[in-house]
Amino acid sequence: MMLLYEGKAKKVFKTEDPEVLRIEYKDEVTAGNGAKHDFMEGKGRLNNLISSDIFKYLKKNGVASHFIERTSETEQKVKAVHIIPLEVAVRNVAAGSIVERLGFKNGEEFTPPLVELYYKKDELNDPILTDDHVLRLDIATEDEIRALKEAALKVNAALIKMMNMMGLKLIDFKIEFGRDKKGNILLADEISPDTCRIRDLETGENFDKDVYRNATGSLIDTYTKFYEKMEAVK
Ligand SMILES: Nc1ncnc2c1ncn2[C@@H]1O[C@H](COP(=O)(O)OP(=O)(O)O)[C@@H](O)[C@H]1O
Ligand SMILES: [Mg+2]
Repeated sequence: MMLLYEGKAKKVFKTEDPEVLRIEYKDEVTAGNGAKHDFMEGKGRLNNLISSDIFKYLKKNGVASHFIERTSETEQKVKAVHIIPLEVAVRNVAAGSIVERLGFKNGEEFTPPLVELYYKKDELNDPILTDDHVLRLDIATEDEIRALKEAALKVNAALIKMMNMMGLKLIDFKIEFGRDKKGNILLADEISPDTCRIRDLETGENFDKDVYRNATGSLIDTYTKFYEKMEAVK
């Protein structure tokens, strides 16, 4: 079936059903908006398995998403949406860019969690946006901005619970949403160690893409261990 678009981590294909898309997870890993880029055998499989199981967990916990079913080791069927060009980030603990940009101390807790909106636009390097920017750029309405932030906090609560059962701590993550045919907002894209920052509750060891970003360990081994820990929540 026809390739609709190809991103850095996934390929999106049309299916016979215009309301359904097939997403194929690629054996590719990037960091810093593509500045660092590598082929990694088995990575697509792991992200697809993990992301599928996270969407299933979210559904069981009352959070709807685009996920329909996993159709192979590297593919899943999802509901087609028009992606809202925002990366909605939730931070429970200060790490990464917020430490560098705003001077928060690494490890500082955010209570309540911090929600941020970034413009999903590679050419502009995904800059952070204020609500007024979102309105002025016609990306979303005021009501939608509120709904996106609320939905992101719900996802956060469910993921915190899930990772806690796995002996892990959710530091932060980013998600994407889309609008379906009727204009309903739906959680879309991917949730995996590519899109979250996760630490071991006891050792503080990274269970996310930071091992690749900072070249501190094997990404495949780390994601495999994460997937094994997911047994605890199935
Ligand atoms: N349900 C969906 N319907 C339409 N597009 C989607 C859906 N889920 C994810 N996408 C889009 O698929 C594209 C490919 O994903 P990815 O490789 O992660 O892209 P990127 O390089 O932008 O991170 C992204 O533009 C993402 O927003
Ligand atoms: Mg992506």
